[in-house]
Amino acid sequence: MAFTIAIDGPAAAGKGTIGRALAAHFGFAHLDTGLLYRATGRRMLCGLDPVTAAQSLRPEDLNADDLRTPEVSQAASRVAAIPEVRQALLDFQRAFARRAGGAVLDGRDIGTVICPEAEVKLYVTASDVERARRRHLELTGKGHTVTLDEVAQDLRDRDARDSARATAPLKPARDAVQLDTSEMSIEEATERAVAIVTAAQG
Ligand code: DC
Repeated sequence: MAFTIAIDGPAAAGKGTIGRALAAHFGFAHLDTGLLYRATGRRMLCGLDPVTAAQSLRPEDLNADDLRTPEVSQAASRVAAIPEVRQALLDFQRAFARRAGGAVLDGRDIGTVICPEAEVKLYVTASDVERARRRHLELTGKGHTVTLDEVAQDLRDRDARDSARATAPLKPARDAVQLDTSEMSIEEATERAVAIVTAAQG
């Protein structure tokens, strides 16, 4: 039986962490859709036309170990504004969302465009300061040399671009449950999300 949990929100709000935890809790498959745009952006940085890059994306492209760098983050946000790129990635995401056994997808347009019929829609946010702090910790923990200010600027740039684009901009679906994780631990945010999904399962 298909059951889709759609998670949207700005960069570094905790979507991925919550998505992975929900998938583990309910035994659902999880797709971090940002990886599709990151892999496309990375291929563009290697010289490929972005639309061709999206159309010919291979599973191994999603496993590259440098997909989280600030350079690739910016490239992902830029290619994500190209309608043909989004179109090329649509069918894969829609099929994943409705697979048997349940699916969790996190991104920017899951509840609005990819799967408006999702059984649960979450819109995860956190304050700018908290998001920058978390992403900075994550990046430096992986050995990247980047300042807190640079991370904050990257998040501001991407949020502005992702929200202002004409095709599938970042915005909450009308029926999304908002979850502000600024003051929550990972455990608290996960507990709250599990409760929302459990209530929706009836
Ligand atoms: O979730 P993320 O930070 O890994 O996403 C990287 C970029 O990809 C983000 O700045 C915008 C784009 N993106 C998108 O446009 N739509 C999605 N469903 C997921 C990501």
